[in-house]
This record gives sequence, C-alpha cells and structure tokens, in this order.
Amino acid sequence: MITFVPLDESHVSLMHSWLSAGEALRWYARQLTTEESIRQKYLITKLRTGTRCFIVQYDQEPIGYLQYYRISDYPRYCSLVGAGPHDYGMDLFIGRDDRIGRGVGTRIVAAALKELIFAQANAERCLVGPSPENQRAIRCFEKCGFRHVRTVVANDGEEEHIMAAEKPNQTLPPPS
Ligand SMILES: CC(C)(COP(=O)(O)OP(=O)(O)OC[C@H]1O[C@@H](n2cnc3c(N)ncnc32)[C@H](O)[C@@H]1OP(=O)(O)O)[C@@H](O)C(=O)NCCC(=O)NCCS
Repeated sequence: MITFVPLDESHVSLMHSWLSAGEALRWYARQLTTEESIRQKYLITKLRTGTRCFIVQYDQEPIGYLQYYRISDYPRYCSLVGAGPHDYGMDLFIGRDDRIGRGVGTRIVAAALKELIFAQANAERCLVGPSPENQRAIRCFEKCGFRHVRTVVANDGEEEHIMAAEKPNQTLPPPS
C-alpha cells in the first residue's frame, strides 16, 4: 500500500542519503548536495512557492520522494512547457535502488494522480518532464496514461521529454 507523508525536518537525513547515490543521484539530484541545501530547498523554498513535498511509503516503509505543484506558480517554466492554469507538475524518485524496476514506481504515480493531483478541484492535466534518456521513467509514466507532448530545453540546459496525463472524465451517467 502506497501512502504519502508530508515532508518535514525528520526526513532531511534520509533524503540526503537517497540523493547521494544510485539512480536517484543519477536522474534526480544530478549532483551531490548537503543536508543544509536539502533543508533550504525542500523545507523552505519549495513550501514558500506552494510545492507540496512528500515522503512516499510502501507498506509503511519510506522508499522515496514525490512533489507536486501548480505549474503556473512557476511562470518561466509554465511558458516554457506551454502549461495552462489548470496544469499540475509532478516529480519523484525511489531512493532505494533495490526497489527500482519492480513496478513500485508505476503504483506510486497512479496513486499520486488519483489521491493528490486529480483530487485538486481545479486540476485538469498533470505534466512530467523526465530526461529523454530516462527510458525507465518514460515507460513508467506511459503505463500511467502519460503521452509525449513536446521536448524542451530547461533553464539548466537539460532536455525534458514533456508528457501529459488528462484527468479522467468523472461525469456520472444521467439517473435512469
Ligand atoms: C522513475 C521511477 C520512479 C520508476 O519507478 P520503477 O518502479 O523503477 O518503474 P516500474 O518498474 O514501475 O516501471 C518501469 C518500466 O520501465 C521499463 N524499463 C526499465 N528499464 C528500461 C529501459 N532501459 N528502456 C525501456 N524501458 C525500461 C520496465 O520494463 C517497466 O516497464 P514494463 O512494466 O512495461 O516492463 C524509478 O525508476 C526512479 O525513481 N528512478 C530514479 C529517479 C528518476 O528517474 N526519477 C524520475 C525523474 S522524472
């Protein structure tokens, strides 16, 4: 069972260990960081902008991190990816390499769409932007209904393979 626990000070050391090695370092952090930088970035800067940050638990064991945000709260990125006022962004990583490639990521993304992002009353689409080389992430998102919409070069000079998932139509059938 997947659960999302709001990120707090007690998770900083765990986040640091996850972001210092393996696939999370390669594809998410991209460079080594410090606990103080993590504290500043995740507990202060992101919260101020409205990004929601979570530790992901699998059967009550912390295994990764997920964040989501209204893309229009980041105007430069919003115009870069061509997002609208009802588009949300999501980023995640599994922090333990022994849990990667076993279907857990697909379950996390599906749960986040249903329980977090599309639970927002104004949410219509969710966008993600993995590296075009990150074929595992791309496949994971495809399995959750995301489709490629464009490729952009982000401010850090890295290409992003922008993919979008639409909120499922929840219109009820007329009463019989
Ligand atoms: C991206 C991530 C969350 C996906 O979670 P996961 O549990 O590893 O993914 P899943 O096992 O659910 O699905 C992976 C799919 O990719 C496939 N895959 C794996 N490596 C692949 C490759 N090199 N090329 C193509 N497909 C690949 C798997 O076979 C599987 O598809 P299938 O079920 O159709 O066989 C996880 O790998 C991760 O955290 N990676 C490090 C950080 C990262 O990349 N974050 C995303 C940044 S946007």
